[in-house]
Amino acid sequence: MNIKQKLKDIKGKNLFREFRTITSSCDSIVRFNGKECIMLASNNYFGLNTDPRVIAAGKRALDKYGSGNVASRLIVNLDLHEKLEKDIARYKKCQAALVYSGGFSANIGIISSVVGKGDAILSDELNHASIIDGCRLSKADVVVYKHCDIEDLESKLSKLKNKNILVVTDSVFSMDGDVAPLKEIINLKRKYSFTFMVDDAHATGIVDTNLEGIDIHMGTLSKTLGSQGGYAAGSNELIDFLRNTSRPFMYSTGLSPADTASALEALKIMQEYKTLRTRLINNASYFRKRLKNMGFKVFGDLQIIPLIIGDNKKTMKFQKLLEEDGIFVTGIRFPTVKSARLRISVMATHTRKQLNKALYSFKKNGIKLGLLPHVRK
Ligand SMILES: Cc1ncc(COP(=O)(O)O)c(C=O)c1O
Repeated sequence: MNIKQKLKDIKGKNLFREFRTITSSCDSIVRFNGKECIMLASNNYFGLNTDPRVIAAGKRALDKYGSGNVASRLIVNLDLHEKLEKDIARYKKCQAALVYSGGFSANIGIISSVVGKGDAILSDELNHASIIDGCRLSKADVVVYKHCDIEDLESKLSKLKNKNILVVTDSVFSMDGDVAPLKEIINLKRKYSFTFMVDDAHATGIVDTNLEGIDIHMGTLSKTLGSQGGYAAGSNELIDFLRNTSRPFMYSTGLSPADTASALEALKIMQEYKTLRTRLINNASYFRKRLKNMGFKVFGDLQIIPLIIGDNKKTMKFQKLLEEDGIFVTGIRFPTVKSARLRISVMATHTRKQLNKALYSFKKNGIKLGLLPHVRK
């Protein structure tokens, strides 16, 4: 199939993606299509992306260091990078950390360095695309276990003959909002030998994953911390090894000064203000409970609320109807997920008034689309 035919195929399956362009900062309210919309689709969970202290830190770094890092970290390494790595290591209770210019490149860079041909990876079936691509790039044998299924993981682990085994999982799953059984996986170390890597992208500041038994912590600076970039945290030996072997780290320009300084400030604020997490979880519970009571199929345990629809066309229609009411939510389809859904993500900074306005629109449009046949208008 050539590109034209492939595009036709994508459109025929209602899987064509287009931009929805915002003309403001990505806060709890955004400007979209010439009007104010309530943002329920970002990963800016604590609203730190627009926190004045975070912005001021970025501006100071721009003034002092310029706009870009202009070379890889092995050539141009800033004191700011080192400070951020020290702070991340302290936050993750690890010996050391290494900052990459993206979370995606952190995952592919870590996995393809720590395992290779002849090794094996056990990977949760709903792991993020960057983990999947890291597994492919590594050339190790990849064995996929059923989502969060500890028995399936153990059964597959027991059959592996490879000496070097990596078990890798998201901690909070990005499209399903549930949490991996980290302690149970760690318990398997009593019987089997493996390296355990956890992707904390959606857990930062929300779920404590500083558990003994996790050997490689991967995280992003781009979600709760509102900046850009990713990191690995672990032993001094691991970080020395990655600095010397991880190609997306070695051969890509280092994180920009403004991103680095903003992430540093956001990390500080996130640890100081524990109420951010409480507000986020309260908002998420409020929203999820009400959607469930309306009769929607909603899942997840934390700030990510997947509302499962199944049909691609209906999912995108729902997105459009919500958009017309000033509610910004994104329809998620294959290949990101198997079953089409709206991925709702609440923020600590949403007010009850905003959440109630959104809930009203969900109900009204859910009825219109026949998703709530039992509910009266
Ligand atoms: C679980 C997970 N890991 C890694 C990434 C990649 O992070 P970044 O967007 O910072 O490149 C994402 C991004 O969506 C993610 O959801």
